[in-house]
Amino acid sequence: MAKNERYIVGLDVGTARVSCVVAEIKEQGAVEIVGLGEAPSRGLRKGVVVHLEPTVESIKAAVEQAEVMAGVSVESATVGLAGGHVRSFNSRGVVAVTGRDRTVSRDDVRRVLDAARAVSIPQDQEILHVLPQEFVLDNQGGIASPVGLNGARLEANVHIVTVSTTSVQNLVTCVNHAAIEVRDTVLEALAASESVLSADEKELGVALIDVGGGTTDLAILERGSIWHTAVLPVGGNHFTNDLAVGLRTPIPDAEKIKIRHGCALASLVDTDDAIEVASIGERKPRLLQRQVLAEILQPRAEEIFHLLREEIVRAGFERMLNAGLVLIGGGSLLPGMTEVAEQVFDLPVRRGQPGGIQGRVEPVCGPQYGTAVGLALYGARHRDRKPRERAGAPRGFLVGVGGKVKAWFHEMF
Ligand SMILES: Nc1ncnc2c1ncn2[C@@H]1O[C@H](COP(=O)(O)OP(=O)(O)OP(=O)(O)O)[C@@H](O)[C@H]1O
Ligand SMILES: [Mg+2]
Repeated sequence: MAKNERYIVGLDVGTARVSCVVAEIKEQGAVEIVGLGEAPSRGLRKGVVVHLEPTVESIKAAVEQAEVMAGVSVESATVGLAGGHVRSFNSRGVVAVTGRDRTVSRDDVRRVLDAARAVSIPQDQEILHVLPQEFVLDNQGGIASPVGLNGARLEANVHIVTVSTTSVQNLVTCVNHAAIEVRDTVLEALAASESVLSADEKELGVALIDVGGGTTDLAILERGSIWHTAVLPVGGNHFTNDLAVGLRTPIPDAEKIKIRHGCALASLVDTDDAIEVASIGERKPRLLQRQVLAEILQPRAEEIFHLLREEIVRAGFERMLNAGLVLIGGGSLLPGMTEVAEQVFDLPVRRGQPGGIQGRVEPVCGPQYGTAVGLALYGARHRDRKPRERAGAPRGFLVGVGGKVKAWFHEMF
């Protein structure tokens, strides 16, 4: 697959679920989704691998499903990174323009980005992305692409995303053990923004919120760039735990009840609605009003959106969100989530759907697929880049080959 680059694969290894999307590149660069595989995730906590074998098994299961649906063998994938180990901050670089006639050259742009990334970061972290926000040429700001313009002093404002070296290595090792080459690693929010946000939203200012299993990830975009990212250690699984405790019911039952009958806003639920709930131990099932469920879930939803609001205000971006909020991730499927977010933020809120794709899109319809589809799209748009050659990356790309030939390996050696 790596050879003809016709198929691109996005792999989202989440805390609750692993999803694998196979995309086919059509003529004129159109992207068609031809395969989707999903498996419950075991072995991660808050986006970080804590148990190797179960994670490998989950990845294999999701990939195999996607392979069957697509009818092709998956050999490489663009893999998403998220979770508590991700850090991000804004930085700035300045250089003198050296091009002929003081015209900004590609080399000047490269140098100013290098200057912006020359910051000290903790030893256990490495830079994942340097995302240009704007260039400033002789104090004239808001320039998206300075090459060819005239000036003496070039500045770049950038958003730098760093990740824990060990966390990335552990995830890469798991993917490799599933016999898949990691062609690139991408911040999940960046990948998702490519698939679920409109160009207008990215331009006007929007908060992209991914309510996952273990964490809720936030990214703020404006003028086409990322300005702020943050991770909250609260996600969809906390709703399930609250129900398990509140209803004194086992966690797997609480998860089913949440998905079938849950609502994050009590006022949306009919007071007469009742459901049957299993009890712990030998006791008989009980009847329960759906409103009681919503009363347990609502404070958790409010907590998540209040924490997000505090984070956005603290970082100074509350006035940037002209296009409101877009919710993705499995946790955003809970009915009432957008309404609670609207109440807390007093802004328009919608659930994000993967876009920018063609063909049979129904299987990947839904906010929970935003990241995996985004990873495939990101891979497709950046497919000319060389295979991942991360500094310090394990040379263990071939661990657990499983009979598949790694085309890039032959290219390199
Ligand atoms: N229909 C639904 N209603 C309510 N919650 C749901 C629904 N479907 C999934 N969830 C919840 O979504 C969460 C999983 O979301 P998702 O699959 O996006 O997480 P993940 O990407 O694996 O995790 P993370 O991003 O935190 O690593 C779980 O807590 C699950 O209970
Ligand atoms: Mg996720």
